[in-house]
Amino acid sequence: MAKYPVVVYGASGYTGMLTMDWLIDQNIPFTAVARNAKRTQEMMAQRVVRLESATYEIIEAEHTVESLTKAFKGAKVVCNTVGPFVNFGITTVEAALKAGCHHIDTTGEQSYMLQVREQFGALYAQAGLLVSPSVSYMYTFSEIAAELALETQGIDALETAAMCRGPRDSAGVSVGSAASIFELMRAKQHYLWENQLRAHAVDASFNIIDANFIQPVFCLPWGGTSLPIYFEKDSRVRSCISSVGFYDNNVMQMVHGLAKKWDAEYKDLPREQQDAVVKSLVDSTTPSMPPRERTSLQRSVDVAIGRGQLAAVRATVHGITPYISTGALQTAAVIKLLDGETNAVGFASGSKAFGHRYLLGFLEQRGLARATVTQL
Ligand SMILES: NC(=O)c1ccc[n+]([C@@H]2O[C@H](COP(=O)([O-])OP(=O)(O)OC[C@H]3O[C@@H](n4cnc5c(N)ncnc54)[C@H](OP(=O)(O)O)[C@@H]3O)[C@@H](O)[C@H]2O)c1
Repeated sequence: MAKYPVVVYGASGYTGMLTMDWLIDQNIPFTAVARNAKRTQEMMAQRVVRLESATYEIIEAEHTVESLTKAFKGAKVVCNTVGPFVNFGITTVEAALKAGCHHIDTTGEQSYMLQVREQFGALYAQAGLLVSPSVSYMYTFSEIAAELALETQGIDALETAAMCRGPRDSAGVSVGSAASIFELMRAKQHYLWENQLRAHAVDASFNIIDANFIQPVFCLPWGGTSLPIYFEKDSRVRSCISSVGFYDNNVMQMVHGLAKKWDAEYKDLPREQQDAVVKSLVDSTTPSMPPRERTSLQRSVDVAIGRGQLAAVRATVHGITPYISTGALQTAAVIKLLDGETNAVGFASGSKAFGHRYLLGFLEQRGLARATVTQL
């Protein structure tokens, strides 16, 4: 049973520990839940900033609905960072509901989000609880840009891109992120067109030209992103096409090539053989946890172009350190949920539950984001 109102699940992971940094900064006590308490304590001692001033406990739990429900009971909010969510997320969503907790997570995986919406949206709403996937850099920053564009009257069509810079020799992503990225090859990726979700072609790609860059940025649907799912049930928006690009290295070309190879060679293999392919890709690209991000290295540009009949607008959110920003976004959501302030229960995005202006303000005040809006 959790002694404190906030649970961080995935407490030994890169993003879970960055979330703790921000909870400690805001003086919010938390219960860290993970499958190995001893290793979690060691990892936290190495990685969590200001741990000496934190009020916390560590609970060990198995990744089953029963064990997690027991661990979560007593808390109000579960911050779930155990991914790939398509493999692990639903168990945690079910446990949080059974324990009477709001559930926010750091996914960017469309197929998991669709499953959460269909299986748990109504149940969370009935319980007066929020289930909000993707309270994370990807794709809250792009959604903030989209919401800023939608502030212009008449906008009903959106195109967005999340463009990130990392270390030159790798994408600088965590082990969990690499696993989630390669899982995307198994999933359908959707965009929204005339209020309907449609599947992207397997080899879909975009060459984004943006005033922030000298060269076009090669982008991919990256699973489709969370935006088409959140805007599908939004009367303001008829279409939404979203993409992602790491612009400082060739990782996107590599993933694009792999998606085509997957379609040609692996898509009909038995699940266990596919698992082995995914595992070897993760092991070879991301052998260990990356170091903490640096503001001089990790930078991002999230752009949303909005179009109406004649209205046209471009909103841009410049950001830094996406994983550190993810911890900040989780904490911004926690603050609202602990105070009982949410505009939505059931399945809803962070922007819809707390307001995109609140989330942007929280990031801006901490030097993590800056937004501009230009009428075109
Ligand atoms: N959308 C975004 O912008 C964004 C940002 C950050 C993170 N994320 C996502 O968040 C997820 C986690 O990322 P991360 O950076 O924290 O990765 P990570 O450092 O690899 O951490 C993964 C965490 O999940 C736990 N875990 C893995 N398999 C488990 C299992 N079978 N049972 C129980 N726990 C398990 C790990 O526990 P052990 O230590 O015991 O293995 C660890 O605590 C990924 O899906 C990533 O894509 C997304």
